[in-house]
Amino acid sequence: MLRAGGLVALPTETVYGLGANAEDSAAVSRIVQVKERPPSHPLIVHIASAEHLDDWVQDVSATARLLAEHFWPGPLTLVLRRGPRVPLEATGGLETVAVRVPHHPVALALLSAFGGGVTAPSANRFGSVSPTTADHVRAELGDRVDFVLDGGRCEVGVESTIVDATGEIPTVLRPGGVTREDLEAALGYALAVPSTSRVRVPGQHPSHYAPRARVVLVEPEKVVAEAELAQELGHRVGVFLPAAFADTPMKAHAVVAVPASTAAYARRLYGSLRELDRRGCDLIVASLPTEEGLGLAIANRLRRAAGPRLNVFEFGAAEQQGV
Ligand code: TXA
Ligand code: MG
Repeated sequence: MLRAGGLVALPTETVYGLGANAEDSAAVSRIVQVKERPPSHPLIVHIASAEHLDDWVQDVSATARLLAEHFWPGPLTLVLRRGPRVPLEATGGLETVAVRVPHHPVALALLSAFGGGVTAPSANRFGSVSPTTADHVRAELGDRVDFVLDGGRCEVGVESTIVDATGEIPTVLRPGGVTREDLEAALGYALAVPSTSRVRVPGQHPSHYAPRARVVLVEPEKVVAEAELAQELGHRVGVFLPAAFADTPMKAHAVVAVPASTAAYARRLYGSLRELDRRGCDLIVASLPTEEGLGLAIANRLRRAAGPRLNVFEFGAAEQQGV
């Protein structure tokens, strides 16, 4: 199907991707249509192994090589200078391209059988929550995708960490499955923490990863009281109850117990947001985890889920103004 220009949803260790042959401009353009996403949005090219990196990019620095060797297969995406094989449709017109080797047996089997690169953004509609099961993909994209390859529940649950490796010092563009601490240990020096309050990166926007329900972030010790107040005011409140308050009895429409481990929290984050939508909540009350380890990626996604909602046109305008 990939060879015939089809769209194949595939599992990865982070989230499900909506895949197309990276060298087929028409198929890549169809991804953008199916996702209802602005065409300026750059995509990630998935490859079978670090050995193929030079087929897709140019000017790979020693640092980029080190990161690829250290973290691939795994939830790390490297942004490097685009090679001639990558069509501009896949990069949103940029001269750089994002590449990663996913750590999932089904994805790797598909990629090595196919032989080429597979361009795959998360398999959800623009702005909504990424899918972590094949059922999520079917529910959201239905027959707009030609085939859904079911590889079970995603182990990591949040998207890959994106690192711009075009310069001498790598920059984290999006926190994700590889933690900042792991990157710093591999590099041997400290990295700047990305700010989640401003959009500088193409395709990163405050209202990404949002469920239908409005998300409100409060201090952990205020979650119970704020949720109960909103419920009394007539909202159908969904709660992300912090582990420290797991034993507190409370009244709400639906309660999700936040796991104490950030790995378990990351794995369940998107599924829980979807579940609260499915149960008809109109408001979700949550708090931010400590921004250490995977907590940084979780906090980034929760902030964005709570961010202002813009439609595709407003999004384009905001992006142009660098808002
Ligand atoms: O874990 C993941 O990364 C998942 C799985 C399917 O691999 N994919 C994913 O793709 O999250 P997507 O399209 O939802 O996010 C890709 C992000 C874009 O939002 C953009 O910010 C960044 O990658 N990106 C891609 N190419 C870039 C480039 N050349 N320069 C800067 N950022 C880029
Ligand atoms: Mg996405």
